[in-house]
Amino acid sequence: MTSLSWSIVAPGVWRAIVGTPEALTPLAVSGATPRVEALAALGAADFPFAPDAIAAEVVSDKQVIRLPLAEEEELFGLGLQFMRVNQRGRTRYLRVNSDPKQDTGETHAPVPFYVSSRGYGVLVNTARIPTFYCGSTVRKDSAHPPVLRDRGTDPNWQATPTSDLVEVVVPAPGVEVYVFAGPSTLEAVRRYNLFCGGGTLPPRWGLGFWHRTMLTANADEVLAEARAYRERGYPCDVIGLEPGWHSKSYPCTYEWRADRYPDPAGFVQTLRDEGFRVNLWENPYVSPDARIYPALESSSGSHTVWGGLVPDYTQPEARAALMQQHEADHVAIGVSGYKLDECDGSELTGASWIFPPQTTFPSGVDGEQMRQVFGLLFQRMTADIFHQRDQRTYGLVRAGNAGSVSLPYVLYSDLYDHRQFVRALCNSGFSGLLWTPELRHGDTAEEWVRRMQVVCLSPMAMLNAWASGSKPWDFPEVEPIVRACIELRMRLQPYLYAAFARYAFDGTPPFRAMALEETLRPASTAPVSEVDLTIDAYGPSATSAIDDQFLVGDSLLVAPLFTGERSRSVWLPAGDWFDFHTGERFGGGGMISITGDLDKLPIFVRDGGIIPLMPALAHSPRAGESVPLEVRHYGNAPGRLELFDDDGETFAYERGSYQWRTLEVTRADTGYTGSISPVPDGWLSAYGEVSWQWWGKG
Ligand code: GAL
Repeated sequence: MTSLSWSIVAPGVWRAIVGTPEALTPLAVSGATPRVEALAALGAADFPFAPDAIAAEVVSDKQVIRLPLAEEEELFGLGLQFMRVNQRGRTRYLRVNSDPKQDTGETHAPVPFYVSSRGYGVLVNTARIPTFYCGSTVRKDSAHPPVLRDRGTDPNWQATPTSDLVEVVVPAPGVEVYVFAGPSTLEAVRRYNLFCGGGTLPPRWGLGFWHRTMLTANADEVLAEARAYRERGYPCDVIGLEPGWHSKSYPCTYEWRADRYPDPAGFVQTLRDEGFRVNLWENPYVSPDARIYPALESSSGSHTVWGGLVPDYTQPEARAALMQQHEADHVAIGVSGYKLDECDGSELTGASWIFPPQTTFPSGVDGEQMRQVFGLLFQRMTADIFHQRDQRTYGLVRAGNAGSVSLPYVLYSDLYDHRQFVRALCNSGFSGLLWTPELRHGDTAEEWVRRMQVVCLSPMAMLNAWASGSKPWDFPEVEPIVRACIELRMRLQPYLYAAFARYAFDGTPPFRAMALEETLRPASTAPVSEVDLTIDAYGPSATSAIDDQFLVGDSLLVAPLFTGERSRSVWLPAGDWFDFHTGERFGGGGMISITGDLDKLPIFVRDGGIIPLMPALAHSPRAGESVPLEVRHYGNAPGRLELFDDDGETFAYERGSYQWRTLEVTRADTGYTGSISPVPDGWLSAYGEVSWQWWGKG
């Protein structure tokens, strides 16, 4: 065993090199550029371990890294995990897989980064498939051996004895390891996010409502579907086309199918004129009928998928071929983004379709590595097309890895378990990921509403009707409720946009699990009976079980009701909380029991919370347009919120063209006063007149 030697690479971020690392890594592929100033603003911090506490050795050609683990520690993250929040006691095999139906660690976007409840983070920057033993192994030489228990007599016997170490096994000749200081868990995540370039800032339209049309839809059908939103007065910003827009798909040509779309430019322009953006579905496998096929043939892998090429997008010439064609055929005529499907791949369960690990690529990268970063490569390439045009995009992707923080993509899945979807939303914030619990279909009106409520409070509010042909108004008996959900999404846009701006500028994830913040967790010493949580058999404390409520921005706590439920328990952190819909006050610091009718998504607002709302417009304001704000202040504490004000569409903010507009509420004997900070002369603000509302006073 050799102790690792650490060098500081940014304030509160250290790196150690183990063996000889490979060149292809998730961080390199993502192009992550640390936000040095923002990291500096977080301040220096002490290395969170004893200097020689982390060690490595080579076992059977694999790097084994050992890190200490304290008895009460909980471990979070490791990517888009659907099955649990606290990973302590589990062995996580971090392979990219489109069918993550078992609790193995495999998922669409495994991220070799975890954070600890003790307030630090660890990243193992590898494009290989690492295995993280999160306190699931015990060494003979352990200084803290587990208590031996006799299963025949002792009811406290545990399947996984308490371990004092994390072991990470990487099948590679070497690897980079990073440690991120806190001191809090949230600060460790913020440092990771900022080190990866800061969070993505979606264009304003990305935060509107999304609708994906059916696989075989033609231009007229798509236009009719889009116009139905306008006729019925439902907000909608983005129309997504599914595979049938290609002249051939599975594998893809990326070219418009002439019989369905005779005039692509006219079609896209008509939608743009009517306030819709167009998002195109694609997968990475290139059809022999594609114009770019000959250019890609020599820079593609040894195997095919669905008969299509698997391009080696680590090669500049392959990237250029795809980017030029996409630019000319899609982006130049007004297409606003992509849905990058099937860059994950399946071979464990269900259908089998992926290039195998033994695939060879011209760059020398092998199939195993390529699979782990394929989604990242795709995200990066397509994001670059838009960045070069000074145009922001926002889209969908089925695979990710470390470093995807600043890439403008939201993950989704073919899985459809609603509780897992909400758990994934909680978990996404630990790993610099965005996730949509997309709505596809509902067996009942109740399910339709419950899913709609959640997706409208997520990073992307989307109805994916590619197979179902569903419309929001499909269940007439709940139509007003569904309309109200979509309208609330639109109204919340200034608040959501502010939360995303913080993600970009200071690394705070806009959607967060309760466990991400010490002040929001139940004290781990709280007696179980008091908080009424089901303890995870493998985790020592109550927080591991909170996987069904989450924070949006700093002030909103969302606790969804699932189909069949009219009541549930909600963990309310210390302080007063207020019902978003009524202003009713709830005392925090414990578990409360709530009941809720179908029309109500339970949302609680923190005392002093400021929630700016805009009108439920048909679509998001365009650059240069401003909206009036109805600003709600909840509770009795003073409050403050930094609104982000820019053109909402370009990268001008990266060049300094933006303003923070401070919304502030102060309290005097005479009552409450709300203010918004002014803008400099000549600044075209996205926010117009402000009216204040006072909720939950007294
Ligand atoms: C799936 C994807 C769906 C839909 C479908 C079209 O892989 O998850 O959202 O796009 O492909 O074939």
